[in-house]
Amino acid sequence: MEHKKEYVQECFNTIAGEYDHMNNLMTWGMLKGWQKLVMSKTNLKNGDSALDVCCGTGEMAFQMKDIVGEGKVFGLDFSENMLKVANEKLAQSGKTGMEFVQGDAMNLPFADNTFAAATNGFALRNVLDIPKTISEMARVVKEGGMVVCIDVSRPKNPIFRAFFNVYYFKFVPFLGHLVDKNKNIAGKIPAYTWLAESLRNFPNQDTIKSYFEAAGLKDCDYKGVGFGAATVYWGRK
Ligand SMILES: C[S@@+](CC[C@H](N)C(=O)[O-])C[C@H]1O[C@@H](n2cnc3c(N)ncnc32)[C@H](O)[C@@H]1O
Repeated sequence: MEHKKEYVQECFNTIAGEYDHMNNLMTWGMLKGWQKLVMSKTNLKNGDSALDVCCGTGEMAFQMKDIVGEGKVFGLDFSENMLKVANEKLAQSGKTGMEFVQGDAMNLPFADNTFAAATNGFALRNVLDIPKTISEMARVVKEGGMVVCIDVSRPKNPIFRAFFNVYYFKFVPFLGHLVDKNKNIAGKIPAYTWLAESLRNFPNQDTIKSYFEAAGLKDCDYKGVGFGAATVYWGRK
């Protein structure tokens, strides 16, 4: 399905309030472990500056902040309501040296070679131009810095894949309708139906790896997690 920027924005504005709960529920509590792998692939250390692109409610940005200590962390997203949740968490945490900014992943408002690492969680499926998003992340990372992404993928094992297909394409929208109330967005399908559908035309792992290489990144690779239901991708500038 064609997903125009305004439609995607509206989807996330609609589900922002329940997003974190739903994420944990839908990933059976495995999400934190997957995010740990993302963090370890960033090679971030104390004092570094870092960027989480399509940060949503800020979960990965907060994990980066725990690693970089006094270093500065930015989270960027185009959904006002997702950023509102991120900023509420920031105010509650009392942390300084963190900033959530509204912007477009395909046109990052940062200079070249700014960050030690840039991450992207579960949003490659949502952007209009995946290669452009990865090349923008590569652009703002310093020489030697890491670009690390995680997104949903289809398990390769046929048994897991069959289970995944029912779970992801049938059960997730069903569960999601408790949140999005099955309400159409801008006359199109409801948010959680679209979130599941956005995997249908999503490129496979090798294609995504090739986008990392096309962005000039080195040592590109990926690793499946959750029996292949998600994949972590990385490359070094
Ligand atoms: C599935 S959520 C992931 C949020 C967060 N990264 C996480 O791991 O929980 C996808 C996010 O990408 C954002 N997004 C999608 N396209 C974007 C774009 N072109 N520019 C900025 N944010 C975008 C959405 O607003 C949403 O918050």
